[in-house]
This record gives sequence, C-alpha cells and structure tokens, in this order.
Amino acid sequence: MYNTLKAKAKEAIKHSYSPYSHYRVSAAIETENGNIYTGTNIENSSYSMTICAERVAIFKAISDGSKKIVKILIYSNNETLPYPCGACLQVMSEFCEKDTIIIVSNDKCDETYSLNKLLPKQFKL
Ligand code: THU
Repeated sequence: MYNTLKAKAKEAIKHSYSPYSHYRVSAAIETENGNIYTGTNIENSSYSMTICAERVAIFKAISDGSKKIVKILIYSNNETLPYPCGACLQVMSEFCEKDTIIIVSNDKCDETYSLNKLLPKQFKL
C-alpha cells in the first residue's frame, strides 16, 4: 500500500494551490475499507484561511462516509520533510488510532511514525 499511497500523493501534489508560500504538500490516506483519498494544501490571500493537505484529505474521506483512517502518507517535493502541524495532528487524533501509521516523505527519504509518537498527549472529550 505504501507504493500506491506515494504514487497518489505525487500525482495529487500537482494540484497544490500554494502561490504565497510556494511550499507544495500533498497527503494520501487509506481508510478502513481500503479506499484512498488525497488532498493538497490550499492557500488563501487571507493567510489564516489556508488549509493543510492532510486536513483536506481527511475531510474528503469523512464527508464521503469513511469512519476510520488506517494510514497517512504526507509528501512534499521540497528538501525539508513535511511533518504534520499540530492542528492536523489533532484532527488525525479524531479519526485514527494511536498506532495509526504516518509516513512523512519527499523524493529523498521517508520516515515512519505512529500518531502516538507525534502527538503523545491527545485532547479528547
Ligand atoms: N502545510 C501543510 O499542508 N501541512 C502541514 O502539516 C503543514 C503546512 C502547508 C500550509 C501552507 O500552505 C504551507 O504548507 C506552508 O506553511
């Protein structure tokens, strides 16, 4: 599944809308029933309205009826690896298990984490 997620993320990054930062990010996520959803960062001239690639992919999946996310791959064609921001980690914690795999990748390398490693203390009601 890693190869498929990476291929889908590399395809999706073409749609990144990032005219302000010029930092392109995409995400590919696998849901509990084996479906794959992708997302890209979408920026806005009112900067704080920008949304990250991870949240776009997650919201697409959930709004399409998915209940759980089992794997997430985040991709950037930049030198720096695209570690997920705090806001995206919090959204992931809503729809993932603590051991859900998060792969952070670019064209040089990949790093694999669990959600628990990146967000050890999760806010839950
Ligand atoms: N970005 C993401 O898409 N995901 C993250 O987890 C962190 C940052 C985007 C937002 C913005 O368009 C660009 O990267 C630079 O911050």
